[in-house]
Amino acid sequence: MDIAVIGSNMVDLISYIDKMPREGETLEAPDFEIGCGGKGANQAVAAAKMGSKVMMVTKVGDDLFADNTIKNLEGYGIDTEFTNKVLGTSSGVAPIFVDPESKNRILIIKGANQYLIPEDVDRAAEKLKKCALIVLQLEIPLETIYRAIEFGNEHGIPVILNPAPATKDLDFSYVCKCDFFIPNETELEILTGMPVETEEQIKTAAITLIDKGVKDVIVTMGSRGVMWVTKGEAHMVDSYKVDAIDTTGAGDAFIGCFAHYFVQNNDVLLAIKMATAFAALSVTKRGTQSSYPSIDEVENFMNVRV
Ligand code: RIB
Repeated sequence: MDIAVIGSNMVDLISYIDKMPREGETLEAPDFEIGCGGKGANQAVAAAKMGSKVMMVTKVGDDLFADNTIKNLEGYGIDTEFTNKVLGTSSGVAPIFVDPESKNRILIIKGANQYLIPEDVDRAAEKLKKCALIVLQLEIPLETIYRAIEFGNEHGIPVILNPAPATKDLDFSYVCKCDFFIPNETELEILTGMPVETEEQIKTAAITLIDKGVKDVIVTMGSRGVMWVTKGEAHMVDSYKVDAIDTTGAGDAFIGCFAHYFVQNNDVLLAIKMATAFAALSVTKRGTQSSYPSIDEVENFMNVRV
């Protein structure tokens, strides 16, 4: 197994809107799509689409969405041995609003994702031990995240933590035990309390995390590119200019693709460049996982074979 994603899955209920209604107002929206999402599942699918062998430790409800979610993961070749149902609970759902500028607003109702507990990490131990990388986000309980980080450290498995959605409750002593910390600029602002308007400010905020003991910070900045900050060094990787239609799940696309190339080549800069292209292509189509490109599309776009 290459990659273990310990995290969330959701059903994305995506409304394409002209504008958000005001209080008490009813507005007609032009379009709607339902699809599989959740930051964890999106990252797992992105890595699997690139060719990684991926397992997912996650929880679904016992509603009509559950079997479809499992079928969807399996359709991408993802190992679902530790994808379990929680009786009497709904699956996670995410009402999403995408405006004409391709920007999104997302609500999450965690449902079964809240029942992914630290013991679930230990139950999957034998399979997890064989993974080359663990990938985490924050749509499951923090205690489970902390156990997964400890597990990675105990077994010498590198850990990526994507602090999304950001919460100030995150214990930085655990963040310092991760190998890659990958926020977007909004999450960086929430977690550091520092301004992130300019590249210089983003760099300064990331350096404060490095000074606290965080190893590698990779800040995804949408159309402004990606900043990778380590002790004493900062690299900028530019984004690709594309016609964005729907940016939902682009951050997850980046992380899943980054995870794949990092495991395959152990080359952080190459992984950032490939993931930047993967995320750029994802925003040119509607939907979340359904917008993710194939490995051929990414390599043709980059004009490389890795
Ligand atoms: O990052 C995008 C994802 O956030 C969506 O798929 C939605 O489910 C929420 O988890």
